[in-house]
Amino acid sequence: MDSPLSADVAAARDAGLTRVAASVTLDELAAVDAEVLGKKGSLVVLKTRLGSLGTVDEKKAAGQALHAATQAVTEALTVRREELRRAARAAQLEAERLDLTEELVGPRRGHAHLVTQAWHRLEDVFIGLGFQIAEGPEVETDFYNFEALNMPRSHPARSGFDTLFTDYHGPLAEEGTVLLRTHTSPVQIRVMQTIEPPIYMVMPGRVFRRDTPDATHMPVFHQIEGLVIDRGITMAHLAGTIDAFTKAFFGGAFTSRLRPNYFPFTEPSAEFDIQRPDGSWIELGGCGMVHPNVLRAGGLDPEEWSGFAFGFGIDRMARERHGIDDIRDMYSNDIRFIEQF
Ligand code: DAH
Repeated sequence: MDSPLSADVAAARDAGLTRVAASVTLDELAAVDAEVLGKKGSLVVLKTRLGSLGTVDEKKAAGQALHAATQAVTEALTVRREELRRAARAAQLEAERLDLTEELVGPRRGHAHLVTQAWHRLEDVFIGLGFQIAEGPEVETDFYNFEALNMPRSHPARSGFDTLFTDYHGPLAEEGTVLLRTHTSPVQIRVMQTIEPPIYMVMPGRVFRRDTPDATHMPVFHQIEGLVIDRGITMAHLAGTIDAFTKAFFGGAFTSRLRPNYFPFTEPSAEFDIQRPDGSWIELGGCGMVHPNVLRAGGLDPEEWSGFAFGFGIDRMARERHGIDDIRDMYSNDIRFIEQF
């Protein structure tokens, strides 16, 4: 004896829904679709039993139940199909994704030399303080390197710079007056001659001295020069600028001090030191109020303009920052050393 049609419809529907939910591939789902709703599907074959039902009402009720069951399974199939399609697409994308990190396996990118890094950082800090950048030539004349900086030919301070001379002589300069600049200070003169004050400028560059390389000296090294020319500039502006630079470059826990010193191109002159948070001092460079003779050589009237200047070593900053004992290591081009910074 057959069970009541309504019970069979409900059973076929529930079995269909369970199998739809359990399908994990689109193929499996297509099979379920055929087995439940296909020509000989479990719900479809039940239709043939409608005719054997007694009353019209019974037929109607059973027909509606069949229709609702078919709809429920069809809907579940549609929803599940969309889920499985989405999952299949995601899996495909994941499988086809390009692993760009593979590039790292190839040649690695290099980076700027540690002195260049220090140079750029110094520029950044001074630009942040409102300065502009200028550069001058590495081959200079006696005039710019010495004379205009208040060091006439007989000046004893000249001997402090172990100067490398070129053997150039000709229409542009006399013999023994063309040299490799021993400091960046000559750029001060070139800046004053070229641009109108107010001047707030830093001038980084490569400098040369006749020195035998040792742990703390190289015949080629780098300096950064500072020049401020304006009306009413005093030593207080110099001290304030040095301190602002110190804090911006090294950090807020560092301080600075000026100690009296002598330079031909400044009056008064000072040496400036930086104090580390542990209380120890680093000697950094020279500074002072631009000497009236230097202003005049730059084409400026000392009655109208005043200013300060400073200069210090860039290599020293890189060495200080990274705790490098021997300056020669920075120039050995040993990649095992260089790539650490
Ligand atoms: N030019 C000096 C040197 O190489 C450093 C220096 C000292 C630069 C005092 C300055 C300054 O501008 O005012 O030793």
